Amino acid sequence: MSRIVYVNGAYLPEEEAKISVFDRGFLFADGVYEVSSVLAGKLIDNAAHMARLERSLGELKMAPPLPLDEIPPIQREIVERNGLDQGTVYLQVTRGAADRDFPFPKGVTSSLVIFSQERNLLEDPAAAHGISVVTLPDIRWQRRDIKTVQLLAPALAKQAALDAGAKDAWLVEDGHITEGSSNNAYIVTLDGTIVTRALSNAILHGITRRAVLALAEREGLKVEERSFTPEEAYEAGEAFITSASTFVYPVVKIDGRILGNGVPGPVATKLRQLYIEMALAEA
Ligand code: PDD
Repeated sequence: MSRIVYVNGAYLPEEEAKISVFDRGFLFADGVYEVSSVLAGKLIDNAAHMARLERSLGELKMAPPLPLDEIPPIQREIVERNGLDQGTVYLQVTRGAADRDFPFPKGVTSSLVIFSQERNLLEDPAAAHGISVVTLPDIRWQRRDIKTVQLLAPALAKQAALDAGAKDAWLVEDGHITEGSSNNAYIVTLDGTIVTRALSNAILHGITRRAVLALAEREGLKVEERSFTPEEAYEAGEAFITSASTFVYPVVKIDGRILGNGVPGPVATKLRQLYIEMALAEA
């Protein structure tokens, strides 16, 4: 049975789901997206994803394809029609299809595509063993707070990391880590303080970041939102990343330097467990 995909009002088998070659998402990467996780067939923290979608659209002066409160029922329908228990729901809005020209076209309806991807989020070897990352220059544009579909720089970074034998890249600008190629980055100092870059246009305001930092504070852990360097990361007790598709992954190696004793650290392990408990309770 083929996957059912939503495209501009229709639920179609993926082979029949099509977008115009004139779609500005295709021609200009003129689009925004969200990835929400699904556990036990339920979307996790989806209201926060929808709020960020609204902000991304506003920052780009892009009209919503339909009233935003009509989108979650479509996401749920996609989960249902595909019998999705665990995985992600991807949604993308683009400025629609128009003859190729740079300024915003007039009288064009935005496009909406929603599809699901199955993935075992709970039993994940990367979470069990931790991942290695390499640092690479952050060559992305200056509005990383907007979740746009222009993902060539992160795709190049992720591939370069794989080619270097690592799982992911941490991006560096002005000597400091911004974030991971598709996740937020954290270190835990030797005295147990969680350090992650403060919110600004330099990073995506992660939905998982917000939830995990709230859990950390609830647990009485010390959190510092500030920039940190690769050198500080090499000396950290542990490190981790967060995103909707990974929850919390421990990082055990940075640029070939092993952190602690090379296994997932207690803070990352605890935060992953707390996040999953909270998500399952919500589901
Ligand atoms: N990426 N930073 C970047 C650059 C990201 O692309 C993402 C998410 C995050 C984490 O945000 P959140 O916790 O809201 O998922 C941070 C998604 C998962 C992706 O592109 O597949």
